Amino acid sequence: MIRDYAPWWAKLAAKLVLARLPVPYRVWRRLGVFVHGAMLDVEFARRTFSEHFGRVRSWLPPSFSVLELGPGDSLATAVIAAEQGASSTWLVDASPDAGLDLAHYRALLGGTPWAAEGGTMLDVLARVNARYETAGLGSLRQVPEGSVDFVFSQAVLEHVRRDEFDRTVDELFRLQAPGGVASHHVDLQDHLAYSLNSLRFPARVWESALFRSSGFYTNRLRDSEILRSFEKAGYRVVDVDRDRWPALPLSRRRLHADFRHFTDEELRVRRMDILLCKAP
Ligand SMILES: C[S@@+](CC[C@H](N)C(=O)[O-])C[C@H]1O[C@@H](n2cnc3c(N)ncnc32)[C@H](O)[C@@H]1O
Repeated sequence: MIRDYAPWWAKLAAKLVLARLPVPYRVWRRLGVFVHGAMLDVEFARRTFSEHFGRVRSWLPPSFSVLELGPGDSLATAVIAAEQGASSTWLVDASPDAGLDLAHYRALLGGTPWAAEGGTMLDVLARVNARYETAGLGSLRQVPEGSVDFVFSQAVLEHVRRDEFDRTVDELFRLQAPGGVASHHVDLQDHLAYSLNSLRFPARVWESALFRSSGFYTNRLRDSEILRSFEKAGYRVVDVDRDRWPALPLSRRRLHADFRHFTDEELRVRRMDILLCKAP
């Protein structure tokens, strides 16, 4: 596809324009222009859940509650979690873009008892004791304190607005049960050319309403800043698995001054898996 070869700045310019057109998200998703991840693919949704669940399973009580931050296009986690023994599930996003039509979920629901009575995916959610909320931080505030055993997110934390990041982490900590665990996969690459192009810009431009609403926004927080936020909230960091570029993907000279104080070692982190716990 042409977009695979377009330079980062051409993608940025195209997205700034396309995001202003009055086209519904489901059309962009079909065209593959703006897509919230890959959770509509049932195999991907199952693999994602089992990777996070596998990390925390031994810490969980036999009956446990789950919260997925940023489920994106799909509500599949609610069914997958119920199959694995979850007694209740919250799915909290900042946009109401998940498919509700049962047709999206045929491969997931076939053979489960929850599809039999029809309706939409919201009816299925009610049957597995799950809720889908889409007001981001406001939705997290509705979740009762200390009520969730297992929190996870897949490629979401980098999209949480920078000015809401610490408050989001504080809410996640508040709603976690004592002894609860969290697993987060974070993608620290720019979402234009999978490099560090986002770090070229001053905050005044990158955090503007125009850039934040154009489908490529990431908060640009680095490894140590994310971990510091979790620790400040009260979490204990149990494990961090980092995937690094072999060398900086972009010359330091190209980075905005705000990012030049980071060491190469930190700037080379392109993805990380974080495992956290809240003291019992
Ligand atoms: C790249 S998508 C990932 C979706 C899904 N986890 C996946 O892997 O397919 C990022 C998701 O994070 C959501 N998001 C962004 N800010 C959020 C916030 N403050 N709270 C909850 N979800 C948020 C977006 O709406 C979007 O659905």
